Amino acid sequence: MRGAGAIVAEVLRTLKEKASPGITTLDLEKIAAEEIKKKKAVPAFKGYRGYPFCLCTSVNEQVVHGMPSKRVLLDGDILSVDVGVLYDGFYGDAAITVPVGTASAEALRLIDITALSLAKGIEAARIGNRLMDIASAVQRCVEAVGFSVVRDFVGHGIGRSLHEPPQLPNFGAPGVGERLKAGMVLAIEPMINAGGYKVKVLKDGWTAVTEDGSLSAHFEHTVAITEDGPHVLTRLTRA
Ligand code: MF3
Ligand code: CO
Repeated sequence: MRGAGAIVAEVLRTLKEKASPGITTLDLEKIAAEEIKKKKAVPAFKGYRGYPFCLCTSVNEQVVHGMPSKRVLLDGDILSVDVGVLYDGFYGDAAITVPVGTASAEALRLIDITALSLAKGIEAARIGNRLMDIASAVQRCVEAVGFSVVRDFVGHGIGRSLHEPPQLPNFGAPGVGERLKAGMVLAIEPMINAGGYKVKVLKDGWTAVTEDGSLSAHFEHTVAITEDGPHVLTRLTRA
């Protein structure tokens, strides 16, 4: 799964560079589609339950599953971009949230805490721990600063399919759930709101937004559980 993970990491690096004021989310989709093709991988989301794009691009109060469009990114927006690929029989899946130009201090804090909560979740992805130890590590980190964990979407097992059991919420009690074993691979993906945890899905059937209009951020890594601890397959390994 390292191959798929590395491609996802490289695509996200490119998109992070390109996400500046004036570009549209559809421009980003085209850039990603080309890079995925060039690297001999297949977009994982396109065609999944009829989803029409390689990327999910979720802006500001959009939580996840925003669809690339002619929307122009503006200075001060925050953009969550999620990408998955199939390569050599296996999937990789990751997401980042980036400020577009200069974002507010609150937006930057939300981004930092969401990234930190993913790091805490990854730290808990260790042999002998239980599944919900990951969830509870994420939740503690987020709620300690007054942000909230989205309930309606979860992380997941990943491998020869994009979504495999188990489902992995980002909230819950520690010490609960199955024991983590070497060889399990999980997509850990906290979705965090600056306001309340409630979300709703727009009439397009995909775009999830915060109910109170507050900002939302999303980070995701594909993480293998190994004898040597958690191994992040979607981390950039070299410049
Ligand atoms: N990272 C998200 C997930 O694992 C993205 C899925 S988008 C979809 O569910 F289009 F494939 F649903
Ligand atoms: Co995922």
